[in-house]
Amino acid sequence: MNTASKNTRLNNWVEEMAKLFTPDSVYWCDGSQEEYDRLAEACVAAGMYERLDEKKRPNSFWVKSDPADVARVEDRTFICTRTQEEAGPTNNWRDPAEMKDVLTKLSRGSMKGRTMYVIPFSMGPIGSNIAHIGVELSDSPYVVNNMRIMTRMGSAVLDALGENGDFVPCLHTIGAPLEPGQKDAAWPCNAENKYICHFPDEKLIWSFGSGYGGNALLGKKCFALRIASWMAREDGWLAEHMLILGITPPKGEKKYIAAAFPSACGKTNLAMLIPTIPGWKVECVGDDIAWMKFGKDGRLYAINPENGFFGVAPGTSMKSNPNAMLALKANCIFTNVAKTPDRDVWWEDMTDAEPPELIDWNGNPWTAGCGRKAAHPNARFTAPASQCPVIDPAWQDPAGVPISAILFGGRRAGVTPLIHESFNWQHGVFLGSIMASEMTAAAVGTVGKLRRDPFAMLPFCGYNMGDYFAHWLAMGKKSTADKLPKIFYVNWFRKGADGKFLWPGYGENSRVLKWVVERVSDTGEAAETAIGYVPAALDFSGLSVSEAAQKELLRVDPAEWKNELPGIREHFASFGTHLPPELAEEANALEKRLG
Ligand code: OXD
Ligand code: MN
Repeated sequence: MNTASKNTRLNNWVEEMAKLFTPDSVYWCDGSQEEYDRLAEACVAAGMYERLDEKKRPNSFWVKSDPADVARVEDRTFICTRTQEEAGPTNNWRDPAEMKDVLTKLSRGSMKGRTMYVIPFSMGPIGSNIAHIGVELSDSPYVVNNMRIMTRMGSAVLDALGENGDFVPCLHTIGAPLEPGQKDAAWPCNAENKYICHFPDEKLIWSFGSGYGGNALLGKKCFALRIASWMAREDGWLAEHMLILGITPPKGEKKYIAAAFPSACGKTNLAMLIPTIPGWKVECVGDDIAWMKFGKDGRLYAINPENGFFGVAPGTSMKSNPNAMLALKANCIFTNVAKTPDRDVWWEDMTDAEPPELIDWNGNPWTAGCGRKAAHPNARFTAPASQCPVIDPAWQDPAGVPISAILFGGRRAGVTPLIHESFNWQHGVFLGSIMASEMTAAAVGTVGKLRRDPFAMLPFCGYNMGDYFAHWLAMGKKSTADKLPKIFYVNWFRKGADGKFLWPGYGENSRVLKWVVERVSDTGEAAETAIGYVPAALDFSGLSVSEAAQKELLRVDPAEWKNELPGIREHFASFGTHLPPELAEEANALEKRLG
């Protein structure tokens, strides 16, 4: 077999899988610009891509997916551990042998008429001791080019792998074999049969039937979170659904902060925000995932394992996130957004006024006020992280950046103050474990209903969430309080009696980050409450938030928190004997403090 690799395990695996998938050819990706351009042109010729206007959006493409393949499919995502207990109550479990049988049958001949691309990639800077290598086999050129933006991909990774290096095998097929002479679909996939499967014991990923996002770009959610969380528990590190930002006070020392929020809580916006407080600077290391390992000095060092942003386009604008908009100027892939008559892109809320005419994400003519969305709500941009105007100078540092603070958060109209700080690591783990977000009015009938999303890892933890809590507690024992990051909980979404948000958010969130920086620098003043420390004084200067609203934002109401306890205990009970006793103790201690 024609191979670019010296790694026997890799070569044997590729050969074996080629026999199963029976592609017409096998192609080893080198990761070059020439290769990227060639594949992009082939996608244009095949009708999958359209090139956008070269002046408006150089080297960028508009892609429409099949309407049946538009998002991650959590109900088709499986964790195939030996026992169901190992996968735990928050995951869909299948027996590994049975699932492999299903996938093997489906995959036999599934790449017929197509090329099987061998995509070597590194999650994290190549050679970093925090990084890990994967190899994805895929029959989608769209996946190849997205992986080139989202990971370090190509020959350099094979060089790093060498003869004996270890890698995570990632199988991906769109499950749409082509018979001789059969015309291909613009977005081939298998709308009826989708399986996103993880075999943690073998560290194997096998994805069938979808070409979209986290289902197909296997380095992201499948590897960097589900499989990596398993690896992290085995080896004593953390693989988390967290942004990483650097923040520098005027003439002060830069600090790095990691933050985990459920979707629709503004992670990408926070990761690259423009502070409103004078002299402060925020720089972005990553917007979605953090891998953290202890350094020799006992501090936790983080890398962003990704190389790009795969962000939700609708809602992104020069108002909500100018740095993201500027990162999208060129060299991007836009999937399921709308196209303007002058061959640029548009999505809901990108501009104040809707353009009069567009081609919508389905390829149909669209006119302003027609009542349909022009872009799919989960339309995405794939953009090189290096294009972000505030990308942190250390974002590629193989050593990672030292984390001083970890933020958890969710969307709560009441109860939870703008920010509070945990008493210690164990209490911080408790805060992560009870993370919850309120369903918005978008989900009819469920307004106000809390969805528990511990550590924002609900769809991404590759094993029993109770054991994951225990792993976090164990991590806290590997270092000392002075070296561990301090843990905070934020809520940008508290509402007043009038039902309006009390906090303006976006760049004003820098005021909250300022207090975090002060606390980790041992300068910030705090008031102790039953739930943790809240700011004794937050910098509200120059902000038109009434004094009453300021008070309400930071208010801790013991009666409201007492009402939270049954929900917390019910949540904890779902983990049975896997719930670490320390967390039940934290709930009891909270109850006692509430009086
Ligand atoms: C994402 C997600 O796409 O969390 O980042 O769903
Ligand atoms: Mn995410």
